[in-house]
Amino acid sequence: MAQINENYLKLPGSYLFSEIARRVNEFKVQNPDADIIRLGIGDVTRPLAPVVVEAMKQAVEEMGRAETFRGYGPEQGYDFLIEKIIANDYAPRGVQLGMDEVFVSDGAKSDTANFQEIFGVDNIMAVTDPVYPVYVDSNVMAGRTGNYDTEKGQYGRIIYLPCTEEGDMKPELPTAPVDMIYLCFPNNPTGMTLTKEELKVWVDYARENKAIILFDSAYEAFIREEGVPRSIYEVEGAREVAVEFRSFSKTAGFTGTRCAYTVVPKDIMIYDFKGEGHSLNKLWLRRQTTKFNGVSYPVQAGAAAVYTEEGKKQIQATIDYYMENARIIREGLQEAGFKVFGGVNAPYIWMKTPGTMGSWEFFDKLMTEAYVVGTPGAGFGANGEGFFRLTAFGTRENTEKAIERIKARMK
Ligand code: MLT
Repeated sequence: MAQINENYLKLPGSYLFSEIARRVNEFKVQNPDADIIRLGIGDVTRPLAPVVVEAMKQAVEEMGRAETFRGYGPEQGYDFLIEKIIANDYAPRGVQLGMDEVFVSDGAKSDTANFQEIFGVDNIMAVTDPVYPVYVDSNVMAGRTGNYDTEKGQYGRIIYLPCTEEGDMKPELPTAPVDMIYLCFPNNPTGMTLTKEELKVWVDYARENKAIILFDSAYEAFIREEGVPRSIYEVEGAREVAVEFRSFSKTAGFTGTRCAYTVVPKDIMIYDFKGEGHSLNKLWLRRQTTKFNGVSYPVQAGAAAVYTEEGKKQIQATIDYYMENARIIREGLQEAGFKVFGGVNAPYIWMKTPGTMGSWEFFDKLMTEAYVVGTPGAGFGANGEGFFRLTAFGTRENTEKAIERIKARMK
């Protein structure tokens, strides 16, 4: 008799964004004429940059000729892409990385979900609350957490770090010891950032406690203000304790193309039961070479084109477009009297729902009365209750229309 991994039974019925899609589809069936604007899942709407498309076309041509055809590539990515990543994303910020410290992959979602495999199931993990649900759900599947407490909206054996309005959406250090710490800045869902000094507090904590920080910086390209760190390695000592996840999804419109990378410095040690240290980098390489066969050559060629002079200009224009959407949403909601966070250095705007209205209640109201879809804050954790997330990744036209509708219909 086939037996289930019981940990899967601890999970709520469906993944947050699948649940939203289900509700929207149900509404569409009942209201086929409703002109719905989707600002829920953070999926991009602008096409790939022309240089990326051109590079991918050329790479496909190469794959069709015997002299230039390629079979399996290196599991951790082609050197031509890794070199560009280091030279453009890190070296200019004073961060030196080795070629074998960067692992190209098909997405930050899969990497952040998979990375926990290297950690023993008895590790105590800390997450911010609200949080991107992948960090939590992947650990639930692995059996690292307790059961879900429906009353609290939280799992046992996870240390939740509340990000509240009073605390300006910034987490405080855990009061009980933890081993794994998930941080995401610029933050999904709140859109808020940490200063270098604030990030240093986490790096210092991890160094003192032999903890490891899993730092998701998928949204770094959206930072507009000076002085906001784009990489955790800008903080001294981070090489000893932090893994960093990056993605081309939001930066260069690769949500449907799939390419990302993860940095695992060789300085990071993870310990066995005797207290002996092992290289995290080696273990991740072992994991990837066993379970992953690399990103396709045309996609990596496309990603490398992002770093050409033309590519940089083209993707910057798209980022500027989205950040103008963010401004329209943020200022529009403020004019309508809502309290908002984020949207300055991130493509997410985190708004407070009116009065005592719950997140899902606001979701239903917004969808049925304004035909606008967002993401209920409660879907990101107990502290997300009473909040709602809108993304800046829509088209300009839809973004403007959505804000007009919210202003007119949601007071
Ligand atoms: C989100 O909406 O939070 C993101 O699209 C999720 C993701 O990148 O997987």
